[in-house]
Amino acid sequence: MCGVVGYTGRNQAVDWLLDGLATLEYRGYDSAGVQVVSSSGNLHGVKCAGRVATLRERAAVANLNGTCGIGHTRWATHGAPTDRNAHPHLDGTGRIAVVHNGIIENYQELRRELMAAGHEFLSETDTEVIPHLIQEAWNGPAKGDLARAVRYACDRLEGAWALAVVCSEVPGQMVVTRNGSPLVVTSTEDGAYAASDVMPLASVATQVTQLEDNDIATLSPDGSIQIVDRNGAPVANPATLTIDWDASAARLGGYSDFMAKEISEQPEAIERLLKDRLGEHGIELDELSLTKAELAAVDRIVIIACGTSYHVGLIAKAAIERWARIPVAVEFASEFNYDENYLVTDHTMCVVITQSGETADTLTAARRMRGMGCTVFAITNVLGSTAARESDGTLYIQAGPEVAVASTKAYTAQIVASFLLALRLGLANGTLAREEVERHFADLERIPDLMREVLARRWQDKQAARLFQGKHSSLFLGRNVNSTTAYEGALKLKEISYLHAEAYPAGEMKHGPIALIEGGFPVVAIVPADHVHDKTVSNIEECLARGAVVIGVATDGDEKVAKLCSQVLWVPQCPDELVVPVVAILHLQMLARYVSRDRGYDVDKPRNLAKSVTVE
Ligand code: AGP
Repeated sequence: MCGVVGYTGRNQAVDWLLDGLATLEYRGYDSAGVQVVSSSGNLHGVKCAGRVATLRERAAVANLNGTCGIGHTRWATHGAPTDRNAHPHLDGTGRIAVVHNGIIENYQELRRELMAAGHEFLSETDTEVIPHLIQEAWNGPAKGDLARAVRYACDRLEGAWALAVVCSEVPGQMVVTRNGSPLVVTSTEDGAYAASDVMPLASVATQVTQLEDNDIATLSPDGSIQIVDRNGAPVANPATLTIDWDASAARLGGYSDFMAKEISEQPEAIERLLKDRLGEHGIELDELSLTKAELAAVDRIVIIACGTSYHVGLIAKAAIERWARIPVAVEFASEFNYDENYLVTDHTMCVVITQSGETADTLTAARRMRGMGCTVFAITNVLGSTAARESDGTLYIQAGPEVAVASTKAYTAQIVASFLLALRLGLANGTLAREEVERHFADLERIPDLMREVLARRWQDKQAARLFQGKHSSLFLGRNVNSTTAYEGALKLKEISYLHAEAYPAGEMKHGPIALIEGGFPVVAIVPADHVHDKTVSNIEECLARGAVVIGVATDGDEKVAKLCSQVLWVPQCPDELVVPVVAILHLQMLARYVSRDRGYDVDKPRNLAKSVTVE
């Protein structure tokens, strides 16, 4: 979950390290630190609990001088977010500094062993064993060779890691390696760079190199990067990635926060995703890497995801079952991974949905499905992410970098991507005729303009946010595909406003959650003009009878709902019931953001969370 950066070159390191960390902060932001090596071989660093902005202030005072350095932004796993537990961590001699993303599972055993050999530890982290192990190897078998010392240390580790290591004995040299946690490097005229992902590198390069597990890269100030594999053999053709977006895409560009920016980017994201997808052969999805016959043979689909991406899966299920008539199961990755009796058929296809492509539970599940003989197809946003690299086919949603922890544009783009998959499957197995596919595709093409209309109505969300003032709990209700809109709306509210929000299929409310309702209790009811509209209206009546304040999400012109609700978030008429969740959710994203802002919270970096959940 943490972010790692490193630089060695001809410039002072600290400025880029701090800027790089700021772009990686979405990975974790409870503490941060940097360490630089001066040309004369002195290690200087600062680290502190808190955000990169605090680190920047401390670094300015510390006047860190050095053209080689490493940096870290943390999401605490082992040890509280304190100055002492912040990275980098040093060895016992103060010569070797390490930053780490991942978890060292056998750290307690290693720590005991190192303590018995006289090593002293200053933090409660799992990471601190690593510099001490490198120190042991440096003085022993590696004989002053940093890359070899790192290799020796890694051979003792169990778990996951991306590491960047510097040593005052070899100023200018930086060694990086990975196992299970992502790491990319790039070479430029100004020097060589390393980072957890492409975000910080977009400002310095358009091409980056992806390290494979157990590769060790040695970066030098002239920009050269030598990569060796686990056996020490040079890696001749490492995988490269072209960054296809401008660095400005990851900047605020006039918006007050990334969530506002990303909510407003949704129409363009959907337009990009749909561009050139309807072709001569129907839906063009070459990424699937399956022949038409193989697609036609698919008899079961298992969708695996977490959080917001899981909600995408629920809507994908509705689309695939309706348009391709294939039974779909949607699983939480964290649950699926411990279900020992999971059943698949010979023609089961697995779809993993993950914005970041790095969610540990989802990756484990995908590997397990592959092990069970299934074709694994990934829907993701991040180019070259682990999910993409390990899948048989990948559909990139091309939503551009999503920085705010609360997922918004990735949610709607992933839903539309799953619609494309559903149409492709329906065409392949003969459930849908070409004309039907064209008609559904035309409906999807209307989504961007429908979204623009909702965005222009954000004042309704601002007004509705006031109804949450002084409240501690709320209920979100919807039926059919919009029970998922309720789940996702409630998740958004919970994660950024810390307000309890229970989401339920509206018809289930009377089986328990209705007991929550008392005078003034806020209920958000998603009640568009669909085949379950009147049923949901009855549920609204039941809430009102118990004193609830109801906020409706309804279709333009619905006077019945207007009369019942304290505030209506109006959605334009949609061409298909499956389009509604993609459009209506924009209101609930904006509602959550306004509630969070009214409460004075940082909407982009909610407490306790990180965007990329790389631990199980
Ligand atoms: C979304 O707002 C959340 N931050 C979270 O639920 C997220 O969707 C989940 O962690 C899965 O992430 P992924 O899509 O990157 O796998």
